[in-house]
Amino acid sequence: MKIVVTKNYDEMSLFSAKQIMEVIKDKPDASLGLATGGTPIGMYQQLIHLHENGLDFSKVKTFNLDEYVGISQQHPESYHKFMYDQLFNHINISPDNVHIPRGDCSDMHEQCELYEKEIQLAGGIDIQVLGIGSNGHIGFNEPGSNPEERTRVVQLAESTIKANARFFGSEELVPRLAISMGIQTILKQCKKIILLASGEEKADAVRAMIEGEVTPELPASFLKLHPDVTIVVDQQAAKKLIVSQAS
Ligand code: F6R
Repeated sequence: MKIVVTKNYDEMSLFSAKQIMEVIKDKPDASLGLATGGTPIGMYQQLIHLHENGLDFSKVKTFNLDEYVGISQQHPESYHKFMYDQLFNHINISPDNVHIPRGDCSDMHEQCELYEKEIQLAGGIDIQVLGIGSNGHIGFNEPGSNPEERTRVVQLAESTIKANARFFGSEELVPRLAISMGIQTILKQCKKIILLASGEEKADAVRAMIEGEVTPELPASFLKLHPDVTIVVDQQAAKKLIVSQAS
């Protein structure tokens, strides 16, 4: 695991956008694995800026990590809408190349299988962006997740429902289920991973991920089993790391 501690959120966003740019420059039809949530918004803004300065997304494919189950693509809080609002509407990506798991299918099992197949058909994911929950989740792989699982329907942890209530206005309105790439999908299908974390509320999870043992109780700790992971954290998220205290 490579650790990059940035001065602040903006530097974290710029650093991670440049990582993605390098992958696209090297491989114009790269597959990007993308996350939603508050953390990557600055990185998406930087990618839009890079696009305005020539970065070409016309051949790029994208695969999102997750989506809520039971809400439509048009729902104001769907990850589908988030991705179009935050990134896709502002770059030259083809909608045919955008993949976001659907949470509104009658056969969710079939949708999960299809999603895995689409990732495989694309030849895997060249660079995957992850955030981390303060409970250590990645995607919606909550504490207790089996690392052998692939894309599937999962139950949101109480702490995730609480954390995401800020987007829905109240806890009651947060969907209880989501479709999420599994830990196995992330470890086996992604060639390179960057995990972003910003703010003090992520400091415990970041420390446990980097300095603790590999355990299903902290799903992000499984990233230690992947050969090419870069953790990009701002100083607030890094403040409990022993290594950061020494420097
Ligand atoms: C989002 C996702 C989640 C978030 C995590 C952190 O697609 O998969 O794992 O990355 O919940 O969310 P924020 O960035 O809102 O703190």
